[in-house]
Amino acid sequence: VHPDEQLFFDTALELVKQAGRLVRDAFDQPSSAVQTKASNTDLVTETDQAVEKHLIKGLGEKFPDHKFIGEESVAGGAKIEWTDAPTWIIDPIDGTTNFVHRIPMVGICVGLSIGRQLRAGIVYNPITRELFSAQVGRGAFKNGFPIHVSNTKELSKSLLCQSLGIHNVTAIGEKWLDMVMSNQRKQVQAGIRGYALDDALLVVQLGSHRGPEMMRSYNESYNRLMVEQQIHGHRSIGSAALSMIYVAQGCCDGYVEYGIHSWDVAASAVIVAEAGGVLLDPTGAPFNVMSRKVLCAGTDELARALSATLTHADYAPEA
Ligand code: IPD
Repeated sequence: VHPDEQLFFDTALELVKQAGRLVRDAFDQPSSAVQTKASNTDLVTETDQAVEKHLIKGLGEKFPDHKFIGEESVAGGAKIEWTDAPTWIIDPIDGTTNFVHRIPMVGICVGLSIGRQLRAGIVYNPITRELFSAQVGRGAFKNGFPIHVSNTKELSKSLLCQSLGIHNVTAIGEKWLDMVMSNQRKQVQAGIRGYALDDALLVVQLGSHRGPEMMRSYNESYNRLMVEQQIHGHRSIGSAALSMIYVAQGCCDGYVEYGIHSWDVAASAVIVAEAGGVLLDPTGAPFNVMSRKVLCAGTDELARALSATLTHADYAPEA
């Protein structure tokens, strides 16, 4: 354990709270400028950039030898270099699409790795004022109160979060997906940012990555889980970090996503683990924060059952 780890954590916590004010103020404004990054569905606002700047400036001034892997810095051309040095893995606003559409499901995410091991995580939703945090070996907390995962072991008793990551729209052929898309378009036209199919059990948010392999993985897995396994239901939260937080709190039993980045999951991974949860690569291999895939669940039994049910999509690791 690094002798200054507590100081690192406390400093980050303070900066995250300050950054929360930036997000809250912008959320209350009528509109803020939206730009696109990798694709038309991959969004960034000036608030994402301002929050990342604030965090990196504050941490960098106090700890000049620390390194950063930040979503918007990488979008701006910075290389992902993951070394043994204390490294802050930052998503200034996870759930940018929610933020843009004024859905209060957003998280400022700050993870800390030392010696390439995740050591601490902070996820702050400044709109709902929920602050989640964890340090390895010390438990996971929401606004200072301990949180714990659920004890669900069977898929048929589980509620799962699942999202589509970021790909280009190419082959969206499955019937249910066509239904979802046309339903979504209608709802969006009506100004509603959520919708339900089949007894309001399915709420699907399509992320911005929708390539053929992703769609096959999603469609097949979805069919097995919802139709064959008859899970309690499926939720798409619109934020990878908050989806994992739902697992950490025991509200949802499992979560899986392909195509995510380290900054989407690093902070929440520590929180899930400290809340008693299980993290895996969706294939069942050990979890690797740089692998662009994540599966987490409240129990090992459920994690393995979920892993065995999925059609997997492959990604090149980002570091
Ligand atoms: C995105 C969200 C979304 C997930 C995407 C992420 P961002 O992060 O977490 O839920 O489906 O894979 O990229 O762009 O809002 O920080």
